[in-house]
Parts: sequence; C-alpha cells; structure tokens
Amino acid sequence: MRYLAMFSLFTLFAARSAGAFPDPKDLPKNPDVPNPLVMFDGTKVTTKEQWFDKRRPELKALFQHYMYGTIPPAKGITAKILHEDPKAFGGKATLREVSLSGVPGHEFRLLIVVPNGRKTPAACFVGPNFSGNHTLADDPKVAVTSAWLYGKEGKATEAGRGMNKDTWNLEQSIDRGFAVATFYPGEVDPDRADVRGGIRPLLPKELETTSIACWAWAVHRCVDYLVTLKEEVDPKRIISVGHSRLGKTVLLAAAFDERIAMTIPLQAGCGGTAPSRGKIGESVKQINDRFPHWFNTNFKQFNEDTSRIPFDQHSLVALCAPRPVLFPNAKEDQWANPDGQFEVLKAADPVYRFLDAGGLDAKEVPPLGKLLDSKLGYFIRDGKHSMTLEDWRAFWEFAEKHLGR
Ligand code: GCU
Repeated sequence: MRYLAMFSLFTLFAARSAGAFPDPKDLPKNPDVPNPLVMFDGTKVTTKEQWFDKRRPELKALFQHYMYGTIPPAKGITAKILHEDPKAFGGKATLREVSLSGVPGHEFRLLIVVPNGRKTPAACFVGPNFSGNHTLADDPKVAVTSAWLYGKEGKATEAGRGMNKDTWNLEQSIDRGFAVATFYPGEVDPDRADVRGGIRPLLPKELETTSIACWAWAVHRCVDYLVTLKEEVDPKRIISVGHSRLGKTVLLAAAFDERIAMTIPLQAGCGGTAPSRGKIGESVKQINDRFPHWFNTNFKQFNEDTSRIPFDQHSLVALCAPRPVLFPNAKEDQWANPDGQFEVLKAADPVYRFLDAGGLDAKEVPPLGKLLDSKLGYFIRDGKHSMTLEDWRAFWEFAEKHLGR
C-alpha cells in the first residue's frame, strides 16, 4: 500500500518535472472531493499568497488539461458599432449591436442595452444566449444570425424575432437599473461535434480547445469591450450569467477572469456546477457521449471512473474566490443535480473562509423561492429547466446585495 502510494507520488513528480500532468489512468483514485487547499504534489496551501500565486494557476492548468481544453489566447479586440438606438424601450435605454473581433478574420455580434439617465455607470450582466440576439428584442435592426442554430432547419429566421424576450428580460433589467450584454455563441463555435466554423479553424492546430472554452473566450472578449464603456458600464460590476451549457460557460469564464465581479451559472449541472463525482442526474459519461465537443479528450478517460479526476467542480468555484457566486436551480430539473450543486458550494466554502471572504451561510438548501444571499449563494424555485423572470429577480437581488445598486 505504502509502496503504491510512494510510486504514484513518484509518477506525479516525474510527470510534473517533465512539464506535463500524468495520463488520466495514472492518476490516483480519490472517491472524495479533492481538497482545493492542497497542491497537486500534496503540499498544503497555508498562505493567501500561496493560493493566488501557486494553487490558482495550478488549478487553471489542471482544468484546461483534464477537462475544458485550452481557452484560446487573448489578443485584444476590435469593436465596431453596427447600429444604435438611443431611445430603446420607449426611451428608457440605449440599445446597440457591436461587432467584436478577437481573432483576425472572425467576428461575432454583441447586443447591449444600457439604462438611460443614470447618474453613475450601471452594473452589467454579460453572457451567451441560446437563440440569437434577434430573439431577445423587437428592434428590426438586431440582425438574424447566419450561424448554425438548433432546430430542424439549422438556421435562424425572421420568425424568431422577439420570441425569447421573457428568457433574458432585457427591459425588466433596464427598469431595475442594470445593463445587459449578450451574444449568440454559435457565431463563436457552433454547438455541434460535426459542424465547424467560428474561431476554431483560425486557431493554431496544436491548440486543443473545446466549445465551452471557446464560448468562455468570447465572454472574455465581451468584457474587453465592456470595460471601455466607462460612462455606461461600471467595470467593477460585471456579472457573467448563462443558462445550462451556457451556465457551465460563464462559470468557467469567471473562474479564469477576475474582471468578472460575480457569476450566476443557472442550472448548469454536470460539467459546470454539479459534482463530477455526483450520483444524481447527468453523469460524466453521459455528457461526454452526447456532447463530445464540450470537453477535451482527457475528460473522456474519466467516463468509467470519475474518482481519478484531480479536482471537482468546487475548485472551479474556488477559483472565483473572493467574488460572489450564485447557483440558481429548479426543483424539477434533477438532471442538473440541485442538491449536488449545494454540496459543491459547501466544498468551495473553505477556500472562501481561508481568504476571509465569507462563504456559504447555510447548512441546508433554502426553501423554494427563497434566495440564500451569502457570498456563495443558492436559489431553488419550483418548476423546470428554464430561465425565467423569477430567476432574474433572484439575480438582481443577489447583484444588488453584493455589488450595490
Ligand atoms: C442537456 C445536457 C446538459 C445541459 C443542457 C442544456 O440536457 O445534458 O448538460 O446543461 O442540455 O444546455 O440545456
């Protein structure tokens, strides 16, 4: 037993000094969630400096190596305003679409609405949407995306205009004083294993990336743009928000970019906010089989044995510390494992406490419809897998509590 332990430690050291992590099958089994405050080589993290200078970079490397693939490099952006309406929603907001380019030869469109007449710059939600910018507002100038879209036809049409206004609730966010910026991630990387386009063909061949990493990259490019809007958007109050696969995306985006002040991954489930070692809802094997383009090749090697994953999703949350994180859920959405998600927050709590940043102030899941608004926050409502006005009310409340009005 001891020999085995020493042997595996030796392999780990050897692999590390060779500049790489071991093959998934050579990682030690650990049925419990790995302690985020212990380095890959077993060293305990005892100071905040060690957390920020050593353990955080190591966790970022581990998540990219074993799960999400590499987030494409940041090379700055160019932004071009496509159209603007300074009197949107009856004069309450300015609405514009901006073409953003962060890879030569590629662009995607960001839709942004900013409340008019505020004395101070607004806090801003940013995140990817499922159905195209034109489905979120009635303005006929908001372009119908030409990228591949879900559904039988595989493309967006004029018929969808304004159709999903009640998922993003742009006007209601404006009324509450928030700006919102959103894009269709299919313009960055189509959500299919067999359709390419977007940025991937333009990236270096040796870079192993994934859809989730590319979409997170795009969230970062939106932040590049938002921080230039000093009059309109407060660069210290940017909140990443997304639903489901796009919730996985915004959690990853926040974990890797400290300019994001808060993150709200809604019903993100497996590969996002639920434990990979979890026993309820979607498993690592199921998600890898159905969506092979979301995660990298190494991640598939954990299909039969998640106990070898050298982290779990609480460590992705820990990468966000000391920033606030809210996990909203729906009771009927057991596929996303709401109870397991609460355990993920519990397991991230020690890192928040270690950094004197508060944490999860409850031992049990709060009652339906009642927001637990501690630094690590949780919300569960009745109903199904969806993004609703009730969810947005929790988002606004949580954002106002932690970032101010
Ligand atoms: C599927 C998938 C989930 C994902 C969800 C979504 O249900 O299994 O992992 O979160 O789609 O993105 O809506």
